[in-house]
Amino acid sequence: MRRTIDWADGAIVVIDQTALPGEYRLLELRTVGELVDAVKRLAVRGAPALGGAGALGVALSAQLNSDVRKDAELIAHARPTAVNLAWGVERALGKLGQGKDAVLAEALAVLDEDERLNKTASKHAAEIVLAECPRRPLRLLSHCNAGRLATVGWGSALGVVSHLHERGLVGEVLVDETRPLLQGARLTAWELAQEGVPYRVQPDGAAAAAMARGMVDCVLVGADRIAANGDVANKIGTYGLAIAARYHGIPFVVVAPSSTVDSKLADGTGIAIEERDARELTGYAGVPITPPDAQVFNPAFDVTPFELVTAVVTEHGRYYPGREAGQAG
Ligand code: MRU
Repeated sequence: MRRTIDWADGAIVVIDQTALPGEYRLLELRTVGELVDAVKRLAVRGAPALGGAGALGVALSAQLNSDVRKDAELIAHARPTAVNLAWGVERALGKLGQGKDAVLAEALAVLDEDERLNKTASKHAAEIVLAECPRRPLRLLSHCNAGRLATVGWGSALGVVSHLHERGLVGEVLVDETRPLLQGARLTAWELAQEGVPYRVQPDGAAAAAMARGMVDCVLVGADRIAANGDVANKIGTYGLAIAARYHGIPFVVVAPSSTVDSKLADGTGIAIEERDARELTGYAGVPITPPDAQVFNPAFDVTPFELVTAVVTEHGRYYPGREAGQAG
């Protein structure tokens, strides 16, 4: 399977996530403006994939002999919540003094690393899930899309499902549809179908009821930014899931590469939460669904306090607040 985001013939090539699952098509992004637009439209999305987009965007700017520092600002601010975007930009910018080929080489290294680190993080998390959840086969609950489409080539939270499925241990994944842009119904369901993992899509509002009925052994989610104290920003609805999981005594596991840890932020209150266009809520598939003058509250993310999280897992194993992200648990 090809990478979600890659470099080919002087362009950034992404799988267009606005078209899935109806159509599998690639976008060739040949200017920084096209990349920024693709990030804003969520044609490329998911925190780790945005890290790759940030790094490749800087590389593209360098290859075009543009004003790289100005472009880097534009790319880093295309979306505010996932720290990986600015992190990827900084990684590539760090090589600018060594010339454009060094910048490109660094961006490609970011892509390789992302795939490797998510594989390792999700393997650690799979062991934690097996230790926390005695029932077999496992019934897992997923929110948004934290699969390979949200990364470069191996999912974080959904990567755990892949590891467990390879071992024949997954009974079912309940897939939150993830309003309003349906990353769960469109993307996670598509990925699970491709892998042959049994799944059912449910409305976000059914998650707590599924837990109450004893249908969930573990909740698995990714992250867009993890503060030093372990607070987790992730797709809107994650906080509510964590509260429901705690109420029902269900493990709640967060999986992310360490590039998602923002050790400069003491806690989650400092995380910028993206507010998205009202039209994502006032209409559906181009058809108006609210009164024309309806006001909306449309935050794309929320913050889950660390005390509600069973484990935050990176490629280094469990993340413990107060220790460096790179220190093993
Ligand atoms: O708005 P999106 O689709 O970019 O939001 C993505 C998420 O919230 C994911 O759960 C998160 O980035 C982790 S992806 C491994």
